[in-house]
Amino acid sequence: MNAMTRMPLADFCAFLEREGIKRFFFVWDPAERTVVPSHPQLQPLADFLAADTRDFDEHEGFFAQIAPETGVLQGASVHRTCRGQAAGGVRFWTYDTVEDYLRDGLRLGLGMTLKNALAGLWWGGGKGVMARGTGKDDGSPELRRRIYEEYGDFMSSLCGCYVTAEDVGTSVEDMAAIFSRTRFTTCIPGELGGSGNPSVPTALGVVRGMEAACAHLGLGTLEGKTVAVQGLGHVGEPLIGFLAERRVAKVIGTDIDPARETAIRELFPELELELRTVERGDNSVLAAEADIVAPCATGGVLGPETIPTIKARIVCGAANNQLEDPQRDDELLREAGVLYMPDFLVNRMGIVNCADEGSGYVDEDPVFERHLGTDWDNSIYNLSLEVLRKAEESGQSPARVALAIAEERSRELHPISGHRGQAIVASLRKGGWAR
Ligand code: NAI
Repeated sequence: MNAMTRMPLADFCAFLEREGIKRFFFVWDPAERTVVPSHPQLQPLADFLAADTRDFDEHEGFFAQIAPETGVLQGASVHRTCRGQAAGGVRFWTYDTVEDYLRDGLRLGLGMTLKNALAGLWWGGGKGVMARGTGKDDGSPELRRRIYEEYGDFMSSLCGCYVTAEDVGTSVEDMAAIFSRTRFTTCIPGELGGSGNPSVPTALGVVRGMEAACAHLGLGTLEGKTVAVQGLGHVGEPLIGFLAERRVAKVIGTDIDPARETAIRELFPELELELRTVERGDNSVLAAEADIVAPCATGGVLGPETIPTIKARIVCGAANNQLEDPQRDDELLREAGVLYMPDFLVNRMGIVNCADEGSGYVDEDPVFERHLGTDWDNSIYNLSLEVLRKAEESGQSPARVALAIAEERSRELHPISGHRGQAIVASLRKGGWAR
């Protein structure tokens, strides 16, 4: 670790200002097999990325700006664009250090590559990261809109190597503000021709993953099961609705926001509920007496501390990057006899929902519905069954099997535009984007 990676983000932004750096990038040079920074002053961060084996995976580019008016640190991590433009949501999140910020973008961008490839979308993987607490951010609606307009300008400057969407801490209204400045966004409101909030289809996709897991274990349907849900937000709420439709016996749930508990009680008066409001970072719900646990709050919740406490046979939820350490924790789950459905296998519907925004809409769209049914080999249900079968046969964890399939698919070239995203990254580097 070097001193620059440990810098609090506010100090890093002050450093950039002193150095007169308004935009910067780190670009992977495939010929030299090294990370090239936009400015020599940022070489320590390029060295950190090049040496990292946990989250850095030859990401094609990481671009960032200090937004000209609001001063917010806004970035885009472009992981792999063989299948098409890097696509994934933008989050507005609090990061302690430069390293935390970079790692989140790298990890999530890679996760999107895997998810998009497994879903069979002609998209690569990327993620937007905006750092709360940098620049002006007084919580007012006017400033919020301005922050996203500036992110839209940033997107336009990236010439389409990354296409953004909604994510944690952002809304479809924020996407509308981005859309007012760029064509490179999705998840825009329906009245602007977009697909709107993707959370309901995401929840249904997760339920299909649960059903595949139950079928694989010979546990029948979801009827009569107890499901524990961590996070009663945009995904958690419709998830409970779909579980109620499938006549589960009981839902146990937690959220850090007491209003969510009240809302769920009002929405599902008929359902047996055991809800609690917890402190941030409380993962006790994962240890509930349940058949299935669904992490639908934040990532990194499955690790050496929580895994031994899990009593459910199945973990299947929407949260991205649920494993604290992807190289270790899938094995810990397997050894503990817990069937873990990899997040990037079952939470694809959010991105599927917005993937075809440009091609228009039809009722009961077959391009969309096929992901949720059983007719298509690559539907969530069928692919989940295939992954579970291969995992059992090979003695590997489902996450390893899904990862191998996703890796291979992610290197297939887009049938029309080829590896254009990488060409865009290269031209941004050559064209002096950061000057
Ligand atoms: P959200 O922000 O609407 O809901 C998350 C909920 O979790 C909030 O109500 C929050 O208060 C709660 N929470 C935070 N920490 C908690 C804790 N320790 N214990 C219990 N509750 C806690 O987010 P959303 O959209 O529902 O997404 C949930 C997860 O699913 C996120 O990780 C997101 O990245 C992922 N995801 C969401 C998609 C979507 O379509 N919304 C698509 C794919 C992934």
